[in-house]
Amino acid sequence: MLIIDGKKVSLDLKNELKASVETCQAQTGKVPGLTVIIVGHDPASQVYVRNKAKTCKEIGMISTVIEMAADTTEKDLLDTIHRLNNDPAVHGILVQQPLPKQIDEFAVTLAIDPSKDVDGFHPENLGRLVMGHLDKCFVSCTPYGILELLGRYKIETKGKHCVVVGRSNIVGKPMANLMLQKLEATNCTVTICHSATKNIPFYTRQADILIAAIGKAGFITADMVKPGVVVIDVGINRIEDPSTKSGYRLVGDVDFEGVSAVASAMTPVPGGVGPMTIAMLLKNTLQSFQRKNDL
Ligand code: GUN
Repeated sequence: MLIIDGKKVSLDLKNELKASVETCQAQTGKVPGLTVIIVGHDPASQVYVRNKAKTCKEIGMISTVIEMAADTTEKDLLDTIHRLNNDPAVHGILVQQPLPKQIDEFAVTLAIDPSKDVDGFHPENLGRLVMGHLDKCFVSCTPYGILELLGRYKIETKGKHCVVVGRSNIVGKPMANLMLQKLEATNCTVTICHSATKNIPFYTRQADILIAAIGKAGFITADMVKPGVVVIDVGINRIEDPSTKSGYRLVGDVDFEGVSAVASAMTPVPGGVGPMTIAMLLKNTLQSFQRKNDL
């Protein structure tokens, strides 16, 4: 069974991005800039934002973090976004989710200039993805990272049956639409399963490529897959484990031990899809810079 090593691929990718940033600087005298806005003090969000900023600096991009109070009004946040939309030194804008209750997340998504929407959440970017216009589009980072993994591991996808379990706007919906496109590492027949699907195992057993984005630890078990399946596990679930120092450990949506006896290739958790997302965010930011500078 092949382990699809997202940690290694993300390191390779970061080295490639670092070289590209140096080329950008040599050509234009400027480097790409990513601004991340965090509203409030959600501890998990703070860790994510810190990691994004750190990686950004490692590859030579300008990283700016704007911290706003938990009681920030929607208007104040939208005003900040409009200022960043008009700042030519900002190539990527990311507003960390979840947002406090008084702020409408969709209004925030709509306010970000689609040409700086490196999260790929804006309906213009999602619409371009659905229509197959990927040249001026940003693909959201998790599906984009999975595409990169399938491509680099040369997983055969053309004409295969890809089953996506989960229909979120961030992962399931863009992922399914991406796998449907006529690209290398896509071109699949696609099925989407979700919480109202009757008999999920009936569908997952037909999958040549199974993408699990459910948010439930160990949901996909060995009896739910067919021999030789390629399994991509998007889940990051904390489960209690008294034998570890922190008292918990991270597991995916797939029962790794059971399914690995049947699958031909799998992403582990941690070290699979997770490390790819920040790398793809920076790839999107580089792409934004290149588009704006006609490179
Ligand atoms: N919160 C958790 N993941 C993400 C992400 O990819 N983008 C944003 N903006 N917020 C998140």
